[in-house]
Amino acid sequence: MTISELNSKYSKLDLTSALKTLKDDFRNKIVFSTSLGQEDQVITDVIFRNQLKIEVFTLDTGRLFQETYELIDRTNAKYNQRINAYFPDNQLVEEFVKTKGFNSFYESVENRKECCKIRKIIPLRRALQDTEIWITGLRAEQSENRAEMALFEWDENFKTIKFNPLINWSLNEVLEYLKQNKVPDNPLHKKGFISIGCQPCTRAIATDEHPRAGRWWWENSKKECGLHGL
Ligand code: ADX
Ligand code: SF4
Repeated sequence: MTISELNSKYSKLDLTSALKTLKDDFRNKIVFSTSLGQEDQVITDVIFRNQLKIEVFTLDTGRLFQETYELIDRTNAKYNQRINAYFPDNQLVEEFVKTKGFNSFYESVENRKECCKIRKIIPLRRALQDTEIWITGLRAEQSENRAEMALFEWDENFKTIKFNPLINWSLNEVLEYLKQNKVPDNPLHKKGFISIGCQPCTRAIATDEHPRAGRWWWENSKKECGLHGL
């Protein structure tokens, strides 16, 4: 099936039907990457609740919030299933920290992108090996870059088909789903943290700020780490 045929077929399906239908259209490995964000928790709920054959994994950068690790434990316990973790290559981290320091991401965009590359991009490449389809929790409303994304697209960087089932969901729809289905959530959201990544690179935001303003807040960059464009 072509990407445009997939987009047309899946635009008519609700989230649960869409995730269930994937196995008919893709015979090989299907994976879902979660950062434990609110969108991701919606998708995890559907996968775990329906016991779908989709690997759920997170990229553990080693710099996540304690609350995020606790949320992983609570989620695994609730569904009696497991979110797998992929870790960075120890030699690359050791060399990077030795030459640049523990918190060098604050010093330059170059250092920050190198840290993201070592701690997220390279492990993601490993996680996506032999994968036919990569599911994400991206939403169009999150940024200008994401506004142009479709339900299905070819990801040239990771050489896989990317499926963004929540691309057209609003934040309210996400929140409503979490509430109605009693899905475990990160307590940091109630403290003003909206988009949550690594602890040193995420801050709480004011109500009038852009939802991604708390990510790499000291930079004027496009605020992407290379997972979904630069
Ligand atoms: S990021 O590129 O700025 O870090 P964001 O936090 O908005 O991404 O999350 C968007 C999607 O990227 C998530 O729904 C998830 O699929 C994926 N993602 C981001 N961070 C991680 C992570 N640490 N582990 C696994 N997937 C992630
Ligand atoms: Fe490193 Fe910050 Fe990127 Fe996390 S978000 S990998 S700590 S630069």
